[in-house]
Amino acid sequence: MDNDGISRRDALLAGAGLAAFAGLGLPSNLLQTKEKKMEVKLVRVPEHADIEKAIAGTAGVGMSAKTHEEHLKLWQGYANKTNEIRKALAELDTDPAKANQIYSPMRALKVNYAFAYGGYVNHNVYFQTLGGKGGPATGEAARLINAAYGSFEHWAADWKATGIAGRGWVYLGYDSELDEVRTFIGDAQDTFPTWNNHLVLAMDVYEHAYYLDFQTARAKYIDAYMQVIDWDAVNARIAAAKR
Ligand SMILES: [Fe+2]
Repeated sequence: MDNDGISRRDALLAGAGLAAFAGLGLPSNLLQTKEKKMEVKLVRVPEHADIEKAIAGTAGVGMSAKTHEEHLKLWQGYANKTNEIRKALAELDTDPAKANQIYSPMRALKVNYAFAYGGYVNHNVYFQTLGGKGGPATGEAARLINAAYGSFEHWAADWKATGIAGRGWVYLGYDSELDEVRTFIGDAQDTFPTWNNHLVLAMDVYEHAYYLDFQTARAKYIDAYMQVIDWDAVNARIAAAKR
């Protein structure tokens, strides 16, 4: 380390980086950005308190505390892997010559980040919107559902059938450009994304969400789930999406 705090190794790396940037014709101030230590922002890992509303609100429809407690472990796994990948991306060599569409660390991290963070967000919304009074939608959610599907009953039938047709996730998306809601199949959490849609309701139809309580009877699980949707939480998400 010399007197101004820059090691010989850093100086050599800076020189090499400058040459590379010069070759790409990029402005030299980008080099300074590249050299700054990236601050890694991490997501909050969920705790038992995050499933307590679901535990209290779903016992009456046959969804057990054990199911939610086991589910929490998977949710925590997505949060931890999201943070692990964020840290790895911050340290990753961003030399374009090392990126590759067949296999490269950049591709592996970016593809699996979508799976990890997608799983984290989906479970955030699942547990936020579970443990309510269920029944017909209320407030803005009711207005949007009626506008798009004609009636709550029609939407509910569509939602249930979508839940049977999906392999992992079913979403209610609020399209902020069209001001409308639409039900989507998600399958895995890194598939079938659509632009402009804010996730306002997410139903997990992977077997870990119901097998302990309903075995393979997914339709019974969906019937139970629909009795405990927290429409206040859905409306709060729609309001946030409109801001
Ligand atoms: Fe899940």
